[in-house]
Order: sequence, then structure tokens, then C-alpha cells
Amino acid sequence: MDNLVNMPVAAGSKAVHDQYGLPVVFERQKMIKGEYDLGKLFRIEFKDKASIPDRGFLENVTFTKNIYLGLNKLFQSFYRIKKRLDENPDGSIEEIIASDYVNINFIGEPGTGKSFALKVICAVLGIPLRIEAFSGESGTDKFLGVSSIAHGEIQFHWTAVPRTHRDGGVIALEEINQMKTDRQMALSQAVVPPFILEVDNYMDTYRHPFSVYVNLFNIGTEGSKPFNEAYLNRFSTTFVFRKDDRDTIISKLHQRMGYPASTPKESDSCAFTPRMLTDTDFEVSVDILENVKNYLNGDMVARNDEAKTISERQSVNMLVEIQNGISPKDAAVLTFVNTLACIDLELAAEVQEEVIDIFPWEYRYKSE
Ligand SMILES: Nc1ncnc2c1ncn2[C@@H]1O[C@H](COP(=O)(O)OP(=O)(O)OP(=O)(O)O)[C@@H](O)[C@H]1O
Ligand SMILES: [Mg+2]
Repeated sequence: MDNLVNMPVAAGSKAVHDQYGLPVVFERQKMIKGEYDLGKLFRIEFKDKASIPDRGFLENVTFTKNIYLGLNKLFQSFYRIKKRLDENPDGSIEEIIASDYVNINFIGEPGTGKSFALKVICAVLGIPLRIEAFSGESGTDKFLGVSSIAHGEIQFHWTAVPRTHRDGGVIALEEINQMKTDRQMALSQAVVPPFILEVDNYMDTYRHPFSVYVNLFNIGTEGSKPFNEAYLNRFSTTFVFRKDDRDTIISKLHQRMGYPASTPKESDSCAFTPRMLTDTDFEVSVDILENVKNYLNGDMVARNDEAKTISERQSVNMLVEIQNGISPKDAAVLTFVNTLACIDLELAAEVQEEVIDIFPWEYRYKSE
């Protein structure tokens, strides 16, 4: 592990990093070799190893910014959760998970690589991946498990969602926005505190500390449905997948055909240096919250419903992202802007331009 992570040089600063996250450089060859396996690195073990995607296909992956951001998000959150778990094994699940629950959205048009990115992340980190697909007909049994009759007896099945909630891993909720919006709320107490899923309608089941909920869905396409905004509010980091530029497409085609990849060098590795939050970070996260809300409530756009979707949860998550080693502006995009992108792509683009881009980032951070 020593050569994977850039341990801070100065004596004493190690503790500071340790508490907030671990500096890490994700390198292509090392990912292919499995050096970022969380069992190996942090002694995080999962029950159902058969659900961990085989690393074989990583040779043919173009590592995109979203993949790196997603990798780092899971890496840093799980690192901090594991640390709390070791320090306080009898702590409640709320104390252990704290603000590090990973509830994320992968959104974008069909074929932009959402499902693929998730598989890559699970393969690199060695995390089981389970998938549940939704439609307009889906009932809450998709979350709570199903019963069937076998040999005259009722048998209960721990389907993908309850199993992941109990045993850990990543659960991909494919097209969950197709589900009727009121039914989405059946998951609302499970993904955030108190983290309880009422499996089979009676078994209160606590969220596993190393579990990840991911909504994957299309937006801006016909058939894309509005979300239950209270549900959406519980998923505070959103990765928007866009159609690739021509060079990336060509490099992906090379890799898919098994030809020497012409991947741009800069996409072969990515470094993250977590840091301690400063007073400025806290102030800026609240300023961004106020500015976004004011913009949405203002006469110019008057989108009060969307304004309600934005809350302190986004501020918290923006701070978590900054702590993970992301620039404050990128952190604001991943949380505030992209949450709105789940509802309306154009509105999100406007907020980015009119609120985030014009915010005096440099001025606010220059004294540090
Ligand atoms: N980063 C990548 N490197 C190499 N190939 C990729 C990458 N991302 C996507 N692909 C290729 O593109 C295909 C389509 O991607 P994927 O199935 O993940 O799209 P999606 O966004 O989940 O689409 P849908 O909304 O239809 O489910 C993948 O099967 C894979 O072959
Ligand atoms: Mg998909």
C-alpha cells in the first residue's frame, strides 16, 4: 500500500490526512493488477465474492473523469467508515456511517457508459455489484424482497436490494425513475438515517456500513420521468455522463477491438489529496446553498419546486467532496448543479452559468 498512496512528507501531517481521507493515485496498470482491492488495502471483506466483477475486462477500459471521481468517492468514504468502525466497534450504524453514506446518481443518455462505469469501479475496488431493474409496474417488493411458494411452503427471497442492504456492496437501481414516485419513498428511511429497511415488511434491517446505493437513469430523453424529489434529495452526489468527444470514442474503439490503446496519457492516472476543511469551505458551502436557492426562487426563473429539492444536504455533501480532495467548484457542481440536472438539464446548465461560474472562487480562497 505504501507505494500506492503518497504519504505526506512532513511528520505530524499524516494524522491530519488520516482523519479526513487518504491521498491516493489511481494508476491504470495498478488497477488492472488489483492493487486497489479494499480487502487488501483496508481489510474490508464482503460475503458474496461471486458478485465482484472480474478484473479481466479492465484492460479494455478508458478511464474517464467520472470513473476516477466515483472511485475516489467510494475509496475515501469507505476508508473513513472503516476507521470509525475499528475505533468504535460497538458504535451505532449512524455513528459509524455518519456523513459518509454513498448515495449517488449516474445520469445521462443511453450508451454514455453509466452501467459500465459502475462495473469498473466495483472491479477495481473489489466490491460486489448487484443490479435491480425497475419499470412503471415495479412495486415496493423490489426493495423489500419477495415471497414465493415452494413445496407448499412460503419462502422468502433476499433479492438484490435487501441483500446489499444487509451484506454490503453496490446496488445499481436501473431506471428507478420509471417506478411510481410514491413507491420510491419505501427506500427513503433506508438510505439515510435511521438506515432501516423493513425487509418483508417486518424485519428491520440496518444498512451495512459498506453499502452503496446508485440510481442509474436517462434524462432529457423521451420517456424519462420526473423523480420523487424527497427521494432524490437523499442522493446528494450526481455524476452526469455525456456523449464522448471524438478522440475518446476512437480510443474506446481501439480498446474494444484489442488494438494498442491510444488513450491520452493524462487519463492513465489520477491523483486525489484529501484535506482538512477550513472555515472558508464551510462559509462557501452555505453561500452556494443560498445563492442557488435565491436564483431558483427569484423572478428570473421562479422554480420553487426545484428550490425545495436543494437543501443543507447538498452543502454537507459539497464539504464531503472537498474533503475527498476535489476542488470546491467541482464539488459544487457534483452536488448542487448535478442534483438539478436529475430534474432538468437546461435548468442545471443555467444554474451552473449564473451561480457557480460567476462565484468569486479565487477571491474567496486567496487568503488561504
Ligand atoms: N469507459 C469506457 N471504456 C470503454 N468502453 C466503454 C466505456 N464506457 C462505455 N463503454 C462501452 O459502451 C457501452 C455502453 O455503455 P453502458 O451500457 O454503460 O451505457 P449506459 O449509459 O448504461 O446506457 P443505458 O442508459 O442504455 O443503460 C459499454 O457496453 C461499453 O462497451
Ligand atoms: Mg445502463
